[in-house]
Amino acid sequence: MQSTIQKTIDFVKKALAHAEAGHDWFHIERVFKTAQTINRQENGDELVVAFAALLHDIADPKFNNGDEELGPNMAASFLSSIAVDAETIKHVKLIIQHMSFKNSFDGAAFSSKEMQIVQDADRLDAIGAIGIARAFTYGGFKNRVLYDPAIAPEEHLNKESYKNTTAPTINHFYEKLLLLKDMMNTEAGKKIAIERHNFMLTYLEQFYKEWEGK
Ligand code: ADP
Ligand code: NI
Repeated sequence: MQSTIQKTIDFVKKALAHAEAGHDWFHIERVFKTAQTINRQENGDELVVAFAALLHDIADPKFNNGDEELGPNMAASFLSSIAVDAETIKHVKLIIQHMSFKNSFDGAAFSSKEMQIVQDADRLDAIGAIGIARAFTYGGFKNRVLYDPAIAPEEHLNKESYKNTTAPTINHFYEKLLLLKDMMNTEAGKKIAIERHNFMLTYLEQFYKEWEGK
C-alpha cells in the first residue's frame, strides 16, 4: 500500500503543476528535505513535519484573492481523504495557517516544535544561493531593476517597505533576506542559516564591486 506521505507528494505535485518558479514543486521538495534534516536533530513528530512541509504552499493567498484559509482547508480535507488521524490534521492545519512571513510579525498565535521546524526550513529556502536565485526570479517576473544606487537599500529596512512594489531586487536582501538568520527557531536551523547568510554577504560584496566596474 502506498504510504500517506507518498500520496501527499503525488497530490502536491499535481496541485502545483502550473505554479510559478518560486513556489513550484522543487521549492516544496527542498523545504521537505530541509525540514527532515532539521528534524533529525529536533526530534519532532515526523508525520506532522512531513505533511506540513509538503502542504504549506498548496494555495498561496497571493494567487487566490487573498484567501488565507483556502490552503489550510485544502490541506485538511486532503489529509482526511487519505484517512490521517484528526489530531495530526488539526496540527498540520494550524502550522500552515500560521507559517507565513507576514503572520510572523503579528505575534504568532500558535507555535509547536513541528511548526518551528517547518517554518525554519521554508525560511532557509529564501536565503543562500537558492534564495538569491529565487529573489532575482521574482524580480524578473515583476520586471524590476537589479539594483539602483539612487534607491539605497538601507532606506527600505522597515516592514512597510515590504509592500513596496517597485524597489530594486537588491533591496529585498535588506528588507527580508538578511533578517531571516535572526528569526530562526531551532538550533539546527540557525546553524544552516548562518552559512547561507554569510554566502549572501559575500555575494553582495562582489555584486557592488562589479557594479563599480572593479
Ligand atoms: P514565502 O517563501 O514565505 O512564500 P514569498 O511568497 O514572499 O515568500 O516569496 C517567494 C520568493 O520570492 C522568496 O524567495 C522571496 O524572497 C522572493 N520575493 C518575495 N518578494 C520579493 C521581492 N520584493 N523582491 C525579490 N524577491 C522577492
Ligand atoms: Ni514556502
